[in-house]
Amino acid sequence: MGSSRMIFVALFLGLSVGAMAGDPYLFFEWNVTYGNIAPLGVPQKGILINGQFPGPTINSTTNNNIVINVFNNLDEPFLLTWHGVQQRKRSWQDGTLGTMCPILPGTNYTYEFQVKDQIGTFFYFPTTGLHRASGGVGLLKINSRDLIPVPFDTPAGEFDVLLGDWYNKGHKTLKSILDSGRTIARPDGIHINGKSNKVGDKDAQPLFTVETGKTYRFRVCNVGLRTSINFRIQGHTMKLVEIEGSHTVQNVYDSLDIHVGQCISVLVTADQAPKDYYFVTSSRFLKRPLNSVVVLRYANSNGPASPELPPPPPENSAGIAWSMNQFRSFRWNLTASAARPNPQGSYHYGSINITRTIKIANGHYKSDGKLRFGINGVSHKDTETPLKLAEYYGVADKVFNYDLVKDEPPHEDDKKVVVAPSVVNGTWKSYVEIIFVNNEKTIQSWHLDGYSFFAVATEPGKWTPEKRKNYNLLDAVSRNTIQVYPNSWSAVMTTLDNAGMWNLRSEMRERAYLGQQLYFSLLSPGRSTRDEYNLPVAQLLCGIVKDMPKPTLPYA
Ligand SMILES: *[C@@H]1O[C@H](CO)[C@@H](O)[C@H](O)[C@H]1NC(C)=O
Ligand SMILES: *[C@@H]1O[C@H](CO)[C@@H](O)[C@H](O)[C@H]1NC(C)=O
Ligand SMILES: *[C@@H]1O[C@H](CO)[C@@H](O)[C@H](O)[C@H]1NC(C)=O
Ligand SMILES: *[C@@H]1O[C@H](CO)[C@@H](O)[C@H](O)[C@H]1NC(C)=O
Ligand SMILES: *[C@@H]1O[C@H](CO)[C@@H](O)[C@H](O)[C@H]1NC(C)=O
Ligand SMILES: *[C@@H]1O[C@H](CO)[C@@H](O)[C@H](O)[C@H]1NC(C)=O
Repeated sequence: MGSSRMIFVALFLGLSVGAMAGDPYLFFEWNVTYGNIAPLGVPQKGILINGQFPGPTINSTTNNNIVINVFNNLDEPFLLTWHGVQQRKRSWQDGTLGTMCPILPGTNYTYEFQVKDQIGTFFYFPTTGLHRASGGVGLLKINSRDLIPVPFDTPAGEFDVLLGDWYNKGHKTLKSILDSGRTIARPDGIHINGKSNKVGDKDAQPLFTVETGKTYRFRVCNVGLRTSINFRIQGHTMKLVEIEGSHTVQNVYDSLDIHVGQCISVLVTADQAPKDYYFVTSSRFLKRPLNSVVVLRYANSNGPASPELPPPPPENSAGIAWSMNQFRSFRWNLTASAARPNPQGSYHYGSINITRTIKIANGHYKSDGKLRFGINGVSHKDTETPLKLAEYYGVADKVFNYDLVKDEPPHEDDKKVVVAPSVVNGTWKSYVEIIFVNNEKTIQSWHLDGYSFFAVATEPGKWTPEKRKNYNLLDAVSRNTIQVYPNSWSAVMTTLDNAGMWNLRSEMRERAYLGQQLYFSLLSPGRSTRDEYNLPVAQLLCGIVKDMPKPTLPYA
């Protein structure tokens, strides 16, 4: 162990970063430790980064190179993923157990990636175990480069808001519940940046302080484990400006639903009487709703927030219809710039022919008497050798079988499940349509690593090819996470042009942990290094490839 680590260190210093030269570097050193937190007021052991929960915000600009040396001082293997960062040609850095070996306790590993051709609001979180239930999350923003116009005035300030459901039990207890075959069930509450206040609490410190007349950008991500959340601010409206890296048409909302894994930016103008206001969150579609508030204070505040909270949107079927309508109101601003100066809408996604339709149906199953979740009857199991490394070293057949998941799900009454590593072979540069089919009674949320996709529809009932007539083929938002309502479906489209091994997963951590995920393998013909970088010299190795001689691309 000791000597192999020395070799890593030595090799790392010689790492060549030619492909990224020229663009500025941001360097970070992160210490991951346990420490005391109390998001719902109950003290517990949380996962901190440099002593913080939520962890530090990464404030970057398009094309920056980001180097993060992560020291794992937990007692368990640990990995972070960069949710929404596309890691173009570099799935080695994606931080999922199918792409990387975990960072062992007491060791460090240096992530090195470029936020290439992206802008917007993203976050990072731990993919190992149920670590996300205890922290390790933080915001990652990518600002536009200086000369690229942004379709709104520079706000007076920015607030980074990570909110989510929370369990007081901690990740080890939650994991042991799942390992024993049961569900973690209902969360205990909702936190906002690790805080939650009660209405009327006179000691509540403000989380956001604003000045009269100024406009602020709130970047909000739902980093919870399973609960959709509605948020709103007493007495104020919110102007939507960005969703997961796309500038949107700037509609004004009283409240917004944000599903697990999603990020949105809104502008809020402090145009009300100078006092305190509650920033209010409510769970969506839970039998017994959860609520929590934090305080937004005007700098010259002369009074407490009113105890009268703006009501949440309706629940049940009316609430689902309300939320679906809100989804449909989200539009891409076709004339705004993104990471490059050309308009977002210059890419006419609606006129590309679909080459493959994949239906992804979520299901819950029993395997050996234990709860499992899966996709089309396959429940993914992580392997000791990361799938990407097995494929790269040419020993995939010793680790997994391709294409256990078929494009068409089995009949929904078919409760058979296969528990095995799940990899779908994608065709290079094909244009795929993914239909997320939800025959369950709960809302779902899905995320694809390595890509953005056009979220073209979400509707109740069963999907049929005729439903394509209802797709938004003009100005659907390009994003990375989409909700699927109970007994409904959602459709997304994307071009598979990012070579690598990419995780498609339920954003609900319980579901992903118990198998509701798969990997897309995308290899370019000839395995050209133009399409995919070589394995970094400093890559951690584990499983059967640990001592194998390192291959280099291209094979051809
Ligand atoms: C990380 O934090 C722990 C606990 O505070 C400390 O013992 C350790 O030296 C730190 N490690 C690094 C690399 O900063
Ligand atoms: C984030 O980066 C931008 C662009 O470099 C800069 O203008 C801004 O002040 C930074 N914000 C913080 C909080 O560091
Ligand atoms: C671990 O941290 C040391 C000290 O900062 C650094 O020199 C080394 O490259 C890191 N190792 C890895 C594998 O990132
Ligand atoms: C879209 O972006 C353009 C270009 O920045 C801007 O002028 C326009 O106001 C935006 N439109 C909407 C509806 O937000
Ligand atoms: C798409 O398909 C249609 C009908 O099959 C065909 O006429 C058209 O040429 C195709 N377009 C492209 C860009 O391949
Ligand atoms: C994956 O699909 C490509 C064609 O798209 C094919 O050439 C290749 O053999 C397939 N690989 C596997 C392992 O099935």
